[in-house]
Amino acid sequence: MPSKPKNPRLPFGDQQTAPWYGKNILTVKQFDRADLDYIFSVAHEMRTMVEHVGTFDLLKGKILANLFYEPSTRTQASFMAAMQRLGGAVVPISEVHYSSVAKGESLPDTVRTLACYADVIVIRHPEVGSAALAARYADKPVINAGDGPGEHPTQALLDMFAIREELGRLDNLTVTMLGDLKHGRTVHSLARLFARFDDIRLNYVSPDILRMPREVMDEVAKKGIRQTEHATLDAALPETDVLYVTRVQRERFEDPAAYEKVKGAYVITPEVMKSAKKQMIVLHPLPRLTEISMEFDADPRAAYFRQMECGLYVRMALLAMVLGKA
Ligand code: NCD
Repeated sequence: MPSKPKNPRLPFGDQQTAPWYGKNILTVKQFDRADLDYIFSVAHEMRTMVEHVGTFDLLKGKILANLFYEPSTRTQASFMAAMQRLGGAVVPISEVHYSSVAKGESLPDTVRTLACYADVIVIRHPEVGSAALAARYADKPVINAGDGPGEHPTQALLDMFAIREELGRLDNLTVTMLGDLKHGRTVHSLARLFARFDDIRLNYVSPDILRMPREVMDEVAKKGIRQTEHATLDAALPETDVLYVTRVQRERFEDPAAYEKVKGAYVITPEVMKSAKKQMIVLHPLPRLTEISMEFDADPRAAYFRQMECGLYVRMALLAMVLGKA
């Protein structure tokens, strides 16, 4: 469950009793199953509203500070679009080279500054634990949009929401995660979230040097989930309901030669997918490089662009929740 509300000076008109009011979103560890059901039901409502009216005024007068220290297309744009579709405004700080960060300002000071101007802060930063650090210094809710190779909780929530929308269930699934499971923060969050559900089997397919971290596997094992590691996809693919493909994260390698060795380890093509079920989906947090060939995009099982759209609705839900409007 979420921690205590932070801001003692509550603006007039906010629903101070809303359960998520003023809370941070830092890790998927903070969500139980009831929280997930709630988030997905709000996200579903957001989808319906966007389809019917496009933009509406739930967060009119609220301001989001979008602080990005690492590159981003989808996360950044979908948080901005989410705030604007809810009638709010955005202060975007993505070119940190042009902000006082380039003068050597610390993260705590930058965050304290933005907390003066905005009602909620979204942060992406290359260090594990950076969002939690930011939350200690901000008296406004902080949302983790990726802390280095740590976690990416809002991505995992949108991944789950996409699976629910596509397959109609989140229990009784075989999920195969493929690629850079060491550095891929999205799979760290997603594996942890799946541990909340029943009858889940997780396959991890990666080169040896990019295996799922022990720490994540131990946490998931505690919930009684069956996890299996593989070097190739062949054995896992035929039983898979959700194939979650990831990019090999070049920017997180210390040794460029090691990256060169593993960068093309797996490629999903129409040929490879012949041995998969007819009723299953392929997801990818995107951006993709060569790990899914464009020839596969026309296959109905290729759900990654539909998945990406889910990000808008989940982020609308989260913003409305932490600002006391849902
Ligand atoms: C992912 C990320 O930033 O962790 N992208 C995203 O947010 N959709 C995946 C990646 O960069 O490979």
